[in-house]
Amino acid sequence: MRFVLFLSSTRVGSSFTGVGSWGDRVGSVIKARAEKAGHEVSVWDPKVLNFPMLQQPIQMLPDKSTIPQWMMDCKKELEEADAFLTCCAEYNSQIPPALTNMLDHFPPASFRHRPVGITTYSVSSGGGMRVQAPLKVMVTDLGMLTVPASVKVDFVNKKFDEQGVCTDAKMEEYVDRMISETAWYAQAIKNHKTSCGLPSA
Ligand SMILES: Cc1cc2nc3c(=O)[nH]c(=O)nc-3n(C[C@H](O)[C@H](O)[C@H](O)COP(=O)(O)O)c2cc1C
Repeated sequence: MRFVLFLSSTRVGSSFTGVGSWGDRVGSVIKARAEKAGHEVSVWDPKVLNFPMLQQPIQMLPDKSTIPQWMMDCKKELEEADAFLTCCAEYNSQIPPALTNMLDHFPPASFRHRPVGITTYSVSSGGGMRVQAPLKVMVTDLGMLTVPASVKVDFVNKKFDEQGVCTDAKMEEYVDRMISETAWYAQAIKNHKTSCGLPSA
């Protein structure tokens, strides 16, 4: 399967919990486990892609000839994905604005009829439990189907050694289950699209 994995953090530099974003490490685990299971993963990291603050979503631009090529390339990648994955921090119980901003650039049609496997994380005991609800609402609004096996990584700053290697086998097990379920739903939807097509608009 072809996955697009959305990261959410733009934090750089040191803080009292470590250096840079813990999402980079969680995201690396998700990517590695998905690749081990034979999937392709394209990582959308807001630190790297550096989306500007939203001016207009693609579908609201009156003159399509002004749409920048990078936006069209990103849209194509979304359309060609079989499934989506999130690696989402919890900021004040909400979705980090960089993730919302990134997704807001694209029409729901770019995401529809594909499953999404959700991972959230935090340095506290909740593992991003509170952001799971708003995140599920947002991805559902965009047309993605949330799979039941979501992952919550609690105490994320205690889950990696100094080299950034994951030291929590249980976390990898939960990630594997989430990936396997997401791939299962992606295959089921693909099969159904082949036999029945897409619903009329
Ligand atoms: C703006 C901000 C708000 C935060 N709010 C929460 C929160 O609501 N719940 C929580 O458990 N941790 C919260 N934290 C702590 C994060 O869990 C921790 O900083 C984590 O490393 C953030 O992910 P990142 O390192 O990928 O940016 C917050 C951190 C930031 C920077």
